[in-house]
This record gives sequence, C-alpha cells and structure tokens, in this order.
Amino acid sequence: MSTVPGSGTGEWPARLSPAPRRRTAQDLAALARTLCAYAVGGPWPLLRASWRFASAPLARVAAVLPQEGTIVDVGCGQGHFLRYCLETGHQRLIGVELSSRSLTRARVCLPPAVRLVRAAAETLPLRGAACVVVLDVLYLLEPRSQEMFLASAAVALQPGGFLIIKTMEPSRRIRQTLNRLQEWLAVRVLHITLGRDFHFRSSTEWVSLCRRHGMSAYSVPLWRGYVHPHVMIVARRIDGEPTQPQG
Ligand SMILES: C[S@@+](CC[C@H](N)C(=O)[O-])C[C@H]1O[C@@H](n2cnc3c(N)ncnc32)[C@H](O)[C@@H]1O
Repeated sequence: MSTVPGSGTGEWPARLSPAPRRRTAQDLAALARTLCAYAVGGPWPLLRASWRFASAPLARVAAVLPQEGTIVDVGCGQGHFLRYCLETGHQRLIGVELSSRSLTRARVCLPPAVRLVRAAAETLPLRGAACVVVLDVLYLLEPRSQEMFLASAAVALQPGGFLIIKTMEPSRRIRQTLNRLQEWLAVRVLHITLGRDFHFRSSTEWVSLCRRHGMSAYSVPLWRGYVHPHVMIVARRIDGEPTQPQG
C-alpha cells in the first residue's frame, strides 16, 4: 500500500455544482495541447484521443475535480483524461489500469511525473487520494466487482475525498443502444477494451451504493449534446474510516 502525498481535506468545492458550464478558452487550449501529445504517437493515437474528447464530456468531469491533492484515474486506458488534467494544472496524478498494453501506450503520451500503476479497480493499492475518478469502466465489471471497487475507493480516499464516476444512464434508451453497440465493438470485436459482459446500473442505484459505502452522493446528467447517455456521480467520503456497507 502506498500513501498519496499532499492530501488535505478542505471543503466541498463550489465548483462541484451540477450547473452546466461553458467551455473557456483555457479549456480549449488544454484540449489542443492534449491532442498534440497524442499526435506525436501517430495518426491512430490522435484519432482515438480526438474521438474520446468529441464523444464524451471529459472536460465537464475535469471541471469538478478538486484543485489540490492527488487525483487517481482508475481504468485510465491510454491516459487521455490524465493528460488533459495535467494540461489544466493538476500536478499529482496517478493512473491505474489492468491492461499492460494500454499502460504502455499511456506511458508514451504522459511525462514520468504521472505515476502509472498496473492494478485492478477492485483492489486499489493506494491511500490518501483527494479524488478517485473512474470513467466508463464500472459497467465492464460484474456487480460483485463493482461493489469491491466502491469499498476499495472508499479506503483509497482521504476523509472528505471525492469519488467521481462517469458512466452511462441505461434508461435513456436510444442513446444507450448506440452506446452498447460501440462498447460491443470495442470489447468483443476490436478488443481495444478489456472486459466481457456489460453490467449497467442506473445513476439512482450508483448514488445509493455510494451512500451504502459511507459516502454522500448525487448525480449529474451530462448527455445533452452527446449521442451517448453520459451521467456523472459525484460522491464524497464522509469523515472517518469507511465502514462496511449498510443495508
Ligand atoms: C472504456 S475504457 C475507458 C478508458 C478511460 N477511462 C477513458 O475514459 O478514456 C475502459 C478501461 O477500463 C479498463 N479496465 C477494465 N476492467 C478493469 C479492471 N478490472 N481494473 C482496471 N481497469 C479495468 C480497460 O482496460 C479500459 O482501459
């Protein structure tokens, strides 16, 4: 187990408001620098990074991160979100990923200051994070593994730390059908994402699961302007050691 440096508690940031936020010139400049970092790897990495940022509200998620402390991106893939965080001024960044192939690709586009760890989401080998972010990973895990992840994230967070889950809302039928098709292609046909089956939960279920794991939580719909049913769960570890899930 390692301890994350620079962990202060702090207040629930006002930036964690569900109100929509316009993109600023700084956001666009950070996005351009991020894409340049992937362009160095050739056209395919650039294309994947461009599609990721065009199809998912990653900048909206980044906008709610606490400025201080360590951010852990679980299931970081090729590191697109980590690179964007770096470009928006976050300095303490850790990526956790199970696929060694993705980690190798992430390493090419991230400086050594960004720590990359090969581990499963269910057993995070970390302590004292200000924020754990998990983007489009949890529906690839079985229900029991999803619960193990929540328990593991609650332990990895410092008291008052945040868990941000970006996932898909299954009740948005048309968008969800498109999402399932894309995920099926990525997981089953192209094998660019680890996983086998899909286990979607509604945002209401995620919020209540986070609460059972000792966190306060709410959800923010983010699908407007996108073809996929993006939704974000913002959870915060209530002070004190996480307890066994209630109920
Ligand atoms: C759809 S991709 C999302 C990648 C990245 N989070 C993003 O938003 O671009 C899902 C990622 O989760 C990783 N993954 C799947 N199961 C995992 C597990 N049990 N532990 C850690 N990572 C996992 C996959 O290898 C893949 O990189």
